[in-house]
Amino acid sequence: MIVARSYTELKQKREALEGRIAFVPTMGALHEGHISLCRLAQAKGDHVVVSIFVNPTQFAPHEDLESYPRTIEADLEKLNEIGVSLVYIPSVSDIYPDDTASSIKAGIPAQGLETDFRPHFFNGVVNVVSRLFHQVRPDFAVFGEKDFQQMMVIRDMVETQNMDIEIIAAPTARDDLGLALSSRNAYLSEEELEIARMLNQIMYGVAHGILEGIDPAKACENAANMLLKCGFDDVDYVAYKPDWRRVLVAAWLGRTRLIDNCALPSNLPAL
Ligand code: PAF
Repeated sequence: MIVARSYTELKQKREALEGRIAFVPTMGALHEGHISLCRLAQAKGDHVVVSIFVNPTQFAPHEDLESYPRTIEADLEKLNEIGVSLVYIPSVSDIYPDDTASSIKAGIPAQGLETDFRPHFFNGVVNVVSRLFHQVRPDFAVFGEKDFQQMMVIRDMVETQNMDIEIIAAPTARDDLGLALSSRNAYLSEEELEIARMLNQIMYGVAHGILEGIDPAKACENAANMLLKCGFDDVDYVAYKPDWRRVLVAAWLGRTRLIDNCALPSNLPAL
């Protein structure tokens, strides 16, 4: 496995990779969810390139940029084990040489949901991902459905910027009790983990309720109240987005913000 620790190194080492290049951008602290993205990438391409970069522009000043888990050596071991070809670990100046925090803007899918609570977030994401795409030059890139709105924002960016890169959505990896895997789960205490595992049950409850004909707004409101009753400290949103046929949730447990989403089956009655 090649490790490129600067853009200069990446440029040299990327040349050696022939065939279809699959790209998995990450912020490190890799777990089974990331590994499943890499495996999907491996199944589709000749080489998999993974980037590890905790992108400062997608964190607001009060957020967890400093404490975001960083486990580079363990990450490299995991990627080596599964046969990734190249890992790119850029510095902030490799990605933002001009110190321009935001030069493109996230498009329509960024409206609402995450943006209502993290207004800086998607502009930071499209800036880092577009820069990584230009540097890595992949044929396609894999994003997890766990961050469904992010995946839609990236798809939109690729279309509107005419980037010739296919975006592949990977299903959300969950633990045995259904909790969506996330690097931020590392912040949770044992007690919080138990509460966190209620999130997906309540979210699927909303999806079923809507299928059974409950008014979506009512189903979402009930779910938000249930989350608070179960021990969540705050709920940013429980929302049903009919154009995506998805229920999306963001809620707080202590200082940890969890997000999740699920699709409605296709036999949704007309609303
Ligand atoms: O989903 C993530 O881990 C990040 O938002 C991404 C896409 C790697 C951009 O920093």
